[in-house]
Amino acid sequence: MNKPRSFEKLWRKRFENFAAHAEDDAGIAGWSPTGLDARLRKFKEIWHNSNHVLDKKKWLDAGCGAGTYSRFIVQQGKEVVGLDYSLPSLQKARLKGESSIVWCVADINKIPFKPGYFDGAICFGVIQALNNSIHAVSSLSRTIKPGGYICMDALNSRCLPHIWEQFSRRAQNKPIHLRYETADNLRRLMKKNGLVNIQIHWLPILPARWYRYQWIMESRLTRWLFHYFPFLGQLFCHSFMMSGQRQQDMHNV
Ligand SMILES: C[S@@+](CC[C@H](N)C(=O)[O-])C[C@H]1O[C@@H](n2cnc3c(N)ncnc32)[C@H](O)[C@@H]1O
Repeated sequence: MNKPRSFEKLWRKRFENFAAHAEDDAGIAGWSPTGLDARLRKFKEIWHNSNHVLDKKKWLDAGCGAGTYSRFIVQQGKEVVGLDYSLPSLQKARLKGESSIVWCVADINKIPFKPGYFDGAICFGVIQALNNSIHAVSSLSRTIKPGGYICMDALNSRCLPHIWEQFSRRAQNKPIHLRYETADNLRRLMKKNGLVNIQIHWLPILPARWYRYQWIMESRLTRWLFHYFPFLGQLFCHSFMMSGQRQQDMHNV
């Protein structure tokens, strides 16, 4: 088993490497192009269906990578800080336009803005590369003001392919490659950090070779099934996004 620190260090090196060698958003972030496509589509759907984002002006994109989401949010008329610990990623993100975005090299565990500075924060693709979600959730929750909105994602540890992968790695005594998370644990941490109105958005992502069938996973029927029978989402969704709001009356959590 990798020592916890070396897992995070390995990922940091990988992210810097991805950014040094790729030019496209997905490659810089280490996603497959189809995976980024599906994620971005889901986030846009959440954004356009949420009343909570409309009045939020200042946004943090924590672990922004190539800045895909930062650019989307700025195009909605908001102010954005794109934060990432990988300088090569930010250098490439900056070259992709939207000059009003502020780019910031920092670790998500030590966000260099005063508590409550942001109205909203997103964090995608990050907690899978951390030893645990505890510090990231508390750091992000502190950074938004009471009433502020957070949306983060995780790789679902309870979906069938991930259950199999975890089992087979353990059986072969191989270290974990990515850290999977349960929806229950992330929800618990968000609650513990004073977040309310927590909602889960299941994110089924088919492998690239089956991507032509992705529309089935995103159809109204499938979404209805995942919404009303969450155990189906748990078994069949590669990832999930979870959103919440910081309680209005909580100042020190
Ligand atoms: C999988 S990429 C996702 C990029 C972007 N959010 C997206 O979804 O396209 C993860 C990004 O998070 C950054 N990252 C990972 N751990 C971080 C940490 N502890 N602090 C700051 N950035 C981090 C990586 O450098 C990488 O750019």
